[in-house]
Amino acid sequence: MVDWRRIRGDFPALRRRINGRRVVYLDSACMSLKPRQVIDAMNEYYEMYPACAGRSIHRFGEEASNAYHASRCKFADFLNANRPEECIWTRNATESLNIVASSVNLPRGSKIITTSLEHHSGLLPFVERAKRDGLRLEVINAQKDGTFDIEDWKGAIDHSTSLVSIVHSSNVTGTVAPIKEIAELAHDRGALIMSDDAQYAPHHPLDVQALDVDFSAISVHKMCGPTGMGVLYGKLEHLESMNMFLFGGDTVRDVRFENGKIVPEYLHPPEKFEAGLQNYAGAIGAGAAAEYLRSIGMHEIEKHERSLLESALKRLLKMGHVHILGTDDIGLKTGLVTFTVDSVPSAHDVATFLNDEFNIMVRSGWHCAGPFHYQIGVDPKMGTTRASFYLYNNINDVNAFLEGLATLIEASS
Ligand code: ALA
Repeated sequence: MVDWRRIRGDFPALRRRINGRRVVYLDSACMSLKPRQVIDAMNEYYEMYPACAGRSIHRFGEEASNAYHASRCKFADFLNANRPEECIWTRNATESLNIVASSVNLPRGSKIITTSLEHHSGLLPFVERAKRDGLRLEVINAQKDGTFDIEDWKGAIDHSTSLVSIVHSSNVTGTVAPIKEIAELAHDRGALIMSDDAQYAPHHPLDVQALDVDFSAISVHKMCGPTGMGVLYGKLEHLESMNMFLFGGDTVRDVRFENGKIVPEYLHPPEKFEAGLQNYAGAIGAGAAAEYLRSIGMHEIEKHERSLLESALKRLLKMGHVHILGTDDIGLKTGLVTFTVDSVPSAHDVATFLNDEFNIMVRSGWHCAGPFHYQIGVDPKMGTTRASFYLYNNINDVNAFLEGLATLIEASS
């Protein structure tokens, strides 16, 4: 049994009192809070061995190299990657998506498939790649409740498809896509599949081998890790055959003159994709975050969040003036709920009221997912409000959120 009260104690930000009140943090889908264990791991690097990994042979350099490599191994275990070399450190999931969109080999004239539910970072890199290389881009519309009809995928993925890119769990509706089935369809027709796991990885057990995805993009700051860190998972054979993304120091085995010309000899993954001095503290924090979540258990975390979501959804569905985006089938959802309030048309007004009156922190806006808002007829300028739950939330947070919202609705209607 996980002691969730003890888990809350790991997060220093939850000890804050603002205007004499406790903090109710419900914006983890944007940015998770950080546990002491992750902060300590990064501080230890900065305090004890703040050197370059993979370059300097002195004691600090050796310790940094060991910690950097150990972190990659922890992350590979977290994803069940076949080998640590399949995990590339990036700045964020956006960069991971951009690396694949820009550097994977796709035949001219072939088709990329993506969806209307994507975050802008899961969409625009592929829009631009299609423009750059004369590829076709097909967008599959999610259904209004954020789920997909598998028949749409069967119809769309054909032998001209070279790449499918899909958000595994939506940051707007929280709906989880049937990635395994879609991966099978893609592979049957010779296409690659990229899964945007920014929202999925922090909240569910993720096994990239069992799902058989070719690439996965992960956002470390949403999973208890530091900001400015992401991971690109890729099957080694694809990472090997891809073009490079950035060039420079640490990507080369040798650079020499041959007949007056400079001839570089590049390294294999992961170094191939990690040019220049890296965010060593960030990578060490990422490994500590992966280890921290694994020590609690991703199944346990998923169950905990679903119980909070179930309680919130049940009561929100009965609340007048509230309209929920996406399915209310919690078995198909990550622990978040996004909604509009018809008596308060601007989502920013909802978020401001909850923050100012009750220290309840939710996110408002269009969540970098304009197309889906347009598709379902929600004015992106008015936006939607999202409450997202994580392992450190409890039923008191859910109650405070619902009471705060009820107060706002009563005052506005
Ligand atoms: N960080 C973004 C969110 O809040 C994408 O969903």
